[in-house]
Amino acid sequence: MSNGAHSTEAETEETEVETEAAEVAAASASSDASASASAASDASVSEAQAEEAHGLTGLPYDAVELRTERLLLRPLTKNDLDDVHAYQKRKDVVRYLMWEVHDHEESAKHLEKRIAMTELADDGDGLIYAVELPDPAGGHGRVIGDMSIFLKSAAHAQLEVGWVFHPAVHGRGYATEAAEAVLAVCFETMRAHRVFAQLDPRNEASARLCERLGMRQEAHLRQSEIFKGEWGDTVIYGMLDTEYAARAR
Ligand SMILES: CC(C)(COP(=O)(O)OP(=O)(O)OC[C@H]1O[C@@H](n2cnc3c(N)ncnc32)[C@H](O)[C@@H]1OP(=O)(O)O)[C@@H](O)C(=O)NCCC(=O)NCCS
Repeated sequence: MSNGAHSTEAETEETEVETEAAEVAAASASSDASASASAASDASVSEAQAEEAHGLTGLPYDAVELRTERLLLRPLTKNDLDDVHAYQKRKDVVRYLMWEVHDHEESAKHLEKRIAMTELADDGDGLIYAVELPDPAGGHGRVIGDMSIFLKSAAHAQLEVGWVFHPAVHGRGYATEAAEAVLAVCFETMRAHRVFAQLDPRNEASARLCERLGMRQEAHLRQSEIFKGEWGDTVIYGMLDTEYAARAR
């Protein structure tokens, strides 16, 4: 998943499939257009409209604060180091992530990199939200996890999401609540066509989260990468814009 687990090969396969689909669509659009000379100008208008309709809107997208019933999602800051390290140092947290536990210095480097990830403009960009549990007394809130959005393809309106939360707050619906806010950004603000997550099939909590959100399992790739020294499978969960809209009704 975007927080580090199981991505490369799945992305390559998806890109190939999507490229093929785009080629088929383009070939069919061009044969339709040539079928009637008088319709040529209409066809070019509708192709342009289709392109506009399919791509992501509002790029570049800059992170803005998101408030949910119990949480604040905002860009990471240097002050979040101790909170972030508190979960990055745990074996149970990184078990299904690509990386191993971080010591304090590794968390600091990781944080520095991710503080800069606040804008989605080009394919490959990532945006990280700190998930803060605000202090009801108005003091400094605690960062209990983070959410990621990766821009996989602007032209094909594909985004990938990821999540990591401190085990002390698991089982209370915080990840679901934060993910709902992120899905709203993806589908309502950016007009994604498809949002997906990639996970280790053994990561049952993450799979349950996907299902709670209404994502559907799209693929189970067998031994798609070497994960922590051995072959690992990847499961892909996804949701389409039509499914998101239907779910909201
Ligand atoms: C994946 C991960 C974020 C899921 O966390 P989580 O605590 O299970 O998810 P939520 O915070 O949404 O809590 C949902 C659970 O709380 C329960 N819950 C309690 N109150 C709830 C509420 N108000 N709303 C929704 N669920 C609620 C749900 O029933 C659910 O329990 P269940 O999974 O046993 O059915 C977490 O396991 C994690 O951070 N893992 C380590 C990092 C990781 O592997 N990331 C994913 C890489 S692919």
